[in-house]
Amino acid sequence: MSVFRRDLLRGRVAFVAGGTSGINLGIAHALAAHGAAIAVLSRSEEKVAAAIADLGRHGTPVSGQAGDVRVYAAVEQALGAVAETFGPPDIIVSGAAGNFVAPAAKLSANAFKTVVDIDLLGTFNVLRAGYAVCRKPGTAMINISAGQSTTAHWGQAHVSAAKAGVDMLTRSLAGEWGPEGIRVNAIIPGPIDGTEGMARLAPTAEARREIESRIALRRYGTKDEVAQMAVFLASEAASYVTGAIMYCDGGQVLAGARGMPDGIGGPG
Ligand code: NAP
Ligand code: COA
Repeated sequence: MSVFRRDLLRGRVAFVAGGTSGINLGIAHALAAHGAAIAVLSRSEEKVAAAIADLGRHGTPVSGQAGDVRVYAAVEQALGAVAETFGPPDIIVSGAAGNFVAPAAKLSANAFKTVVDIDLLGTFNVLRAGYAVCRKPGTAMINISAGQSTTAHWGQAHVSAAKAGVDMLTRSLAGEWGPEGIRVNAIIPGPIDGTEGMARLAPTAEARREIESRIALRRYGTKDEVAQMAVFLASEAASYVTGAIMYCDGGQVLAGARGMPDGIGGPG
């Protein structure tokens, strides 16, 4: 089997939570380009409609629903509809997330809870509801984590806590569901060009240069580079890979924590 083939996922069904923009939409495109039917879920009706139209170019079946990953019943309903329309999903991607830069001293309890609810509870909801309807042996679940799970990033306590939880959920569910032939892995993208995440984290050219100077490959990654890792994890090429937290970050993690900019550390 060659990873250069473009039909690695023909006949598969993929559900991508948060698949209507950015990195997750890039993943949905790559899965569809390899032949998978795609279903996306996110809050905005407009974004869902636009993603369906965009993903249609690959010629595989596409559907989508508006819903919030924080609400288990909404995720369950969306996955049930996918199972009914396309058959049980074989590939489940959990990538919905929220982020903003705020020092912990200025975070309200609800701000902290909001990010933990979207990133961590949302991932539990997607995988738990996915487990209920998935095609058991051979199912590939892929969580989208972040470098904040591993090294401290100032102004990101909420995201760090949530994504560290996503990593441990990945390992825990890989252990629990492995005997049923379900693989659960996570991708840690580095800073990815043209994304909402980086627009929020590094809004200026100077901030971007500072981040790039700490990356071994000295550049941001592309959505397609992350998507290729997702194709690998979704495919038979990764049949013996589970519980893995895989970095697609140009070596960003090697340099450790980001420096503390003025205004973030110290009294809030
Ligand atoms: P993005 O374009 O804002 O993507 C987030 C997606 O999640 C959107 O489709 C959004 O659509 C959906 N979403 C947000 N809250 C939701 C909710 N409560 N329920 C359902 N869907 C929800 O962001 P991105 O920068 O590409 O990031 C995508 C993923 O990569 C995230 O998991 C992020 O943590 C991770 N990541 C990103 C980077 C980066 O460089 N950007 C680096 C490391 C990790 P709606 O607004 O319609 O809900
Ligand atoms: N700094 C500090 N607190 C903030 C904040 C910021 N920049 N933005 C929002 N909050 C707080 C709000 O004030 C609120 O807390 P409060 O009730 O104590 O005032 C809490 O967070 C929830 O905000 P709300 O706007 O009601 O949340 P939401 O569920 O509508 O939206 C967000 C979630 C805030 C994460 C929003 O930015 C979002 O939808 N993000 C998705 C896109 C994204 O973040 N992409 C990048 C992914 S890496």
